[in-house]
Amino acid sequence: MITRIFIPGDAGAVAVGADEVAGAFEAAARTRGLALDIVRNGSRGLYWLEPMVEVETSEGRVAYGPVAAEDVPALVDAMLAGEPHALRVGPTEEIPWLKRQTRLTFARCGVVDPLSLDDYRAYGGYRGLEQTLAIGPDATIEEVVQSGLRGRGGAGFPTGVKWRTVAGTRAEQKYIVCNADEGDSGTFADRMLLEGDPFVMIEGMTIAGIAVGATRGYIYIRSEYPHAVAAMEAAIETARQNGYLGRGIAGSAFDFDMEVRVGAGAYVCGEETALLESLEGRRGVVRAKPPLPAHKGLFGQPTVINNAISLATVPWILAEGAAAYRDFGMGRSRGTMPIQIAGNVKHGGLYEVAFGVTLGELVDEIGGGTASGRPVRAVQVGGPLGAYFPRALFDTPFDYEAFAGKDGLIGHGGIVVFDDTVDMAKQARFAMEFCALESCGKCTPCRIGSTRGVETMDKILRGEERDKNRVLLEDLCHTMKFGSLCALGGFTPYPVMSALHHFPEDFDAPAPSLEEAR
Ligand SMILES: Cc1cc2nc3c(=O)[nH]c(=O)nc-3n(C[C@H](O)[C@H](O)[C@H](O)COP(=O)(O)O)c2cc1C
Ligand code: SF4
Repeated sequence: MITRIFIPGDAGAVAVGADEVAGAFEAAARTRGLALDIVRNGSRGLYWLEPMVEVETSEGRVAYGPVAAEDVPALVDAMLAGEPHALRVGPTEEIPWLKRQTRLTFARCGVVDPLSLDDYRAYGGYRGLEQTLAIGPDATIEEVVQSGLRGRGGAGFPTGVKWRTVAGTRAEQKYIVCNADEGDSGTFADRMLLEGDPFVMIEGMTIAGIAVGATRGYIYIRSEYPHAVAAMEAAIETARQNGYLGRGIAGSAFDFDMEVRVGAGAYVCGEETALLESLEGRRGVVRAKPPLPAHKGLFGQPTVINNAISLATVPWILAEGAAAYRDFGMGRSRGTMPIQIAGNVKHGGLYEVAFGVTLGELVDEIGGGTASGRPVRAVQVGGPLGAYFPRALFDTPFDYEAFAGKDGLIGHGGIVVFDDTVDMAKQARFAMEFCALESCGKCTPCRIGSTRGVETMDKILRGEERDKNRVLLEDLCHTMKFGSLCALGGFTPYPVMSALHHFPEDFDAPAPSLEEAR
């Protein structure tokens, strides 16, 4: 007998037919006279198996995937008859890809009904807030400091230290801003969490508000994420109706409320000061620092601005204790990182694991190599501003300092895999062009430099005075790296220079014929 099944309502699953699969299950249940409870959960992050359907059984959930709508009638018949089916993956929790993970931030994602507050509480939700209310603001900040949590948006700044600065700045009004712009290529962790466990965002922001003395919060989500916007708005309304937002949070003396703001979708609007400009209703242009947002942020008031994953990790830290979180990881990279494996890869998805796992393990073992079956040639880690790493660097552990030591960055934890058909000179050109297109225009090294960079790259690709232009490109990258106002211009040299450094042969390819050049 089947009574309850789970079909992700996650945008990634919907994109490959989850809504049609849900419709087919409804129809199959109707024609067979079955009372079937269909829960639209978040994704477990095994995207090559989506739409992955889970069936509740007396031995726990059993997964099937990838399921297409036309598979459903035979699948339901097999389930009812207790017969095997080719799409059966097995007990969900036993799938090695899931079992080997350490899911702290993503513990509930894919497990609960995202919009059920009862589910949220039944699976440990609001235990972190209870702890904050018990120990008070100062001890809460101390816990976050002690946990070693660093910002998951890219810069890796210690979250607790940022909170302490805002707490120590006197003002009538302070704000919490959640950065869910998630512009990095190959990343989707924020989106998965907003859609799959929206209450954890509310809890994380509420704890931050109580800790630093802020009573208002904004969560900034890009317009390309309509499912995330809808899930967050629904969860906020439910939290408000149940006393978890508004005056006197959970019966305490603290007030906190929040709302969703939708950004139009510019990469630079993920940069914290451009995001604040956008939130205030202006064009997303980077602000010069100082003042830091912690002193003078949204509407000129002290503001905590944190990435969605940073904030969503705080409830776990409060509930389980700073020491439990700090126990995971290596060096100064404490806890876990939700790593997103994408591009030309066999097993793409979200893999949360303690820092220290090597790049090679992630790409070859966990990702399973390329989807095309060809050898992996390069990976770009950390979004469009991240370096391209060759196989020779696959022993690099996932750790902020280890990546920085090899002229790379882990950024928001995105890995994009390329096979041996990739032309790294063209990728380097793409990185420069991306900067030219997305530059906010505020500073000259980035605004002008990126355009001159594309022109210089084109000359190299055409075979024009290659040696001279390569020197010019390196000089330009140096100016951008040290002269740009923000990391968009400042980090574009990383992909460009890494391509030049690790794959020089691609820049020496024969110049295209006149015909090809046209
Ligand atoms: C061009 C650019 C784009 C950025 N995009 C994002 C983004 O999409 N999401 C994010 O959280 N941080 C992004 N950042 C980093 C933010 O400026 C900031 O460091 C972060 O929101 C702080 O939160 P955290 O300390 O929790 O990481 C970006 C930075 C730059 C320079
Ligand atoms: S580096 Fe580029 S994006 Fe950043 S402030 Fe300068 S022009 Fe704007």
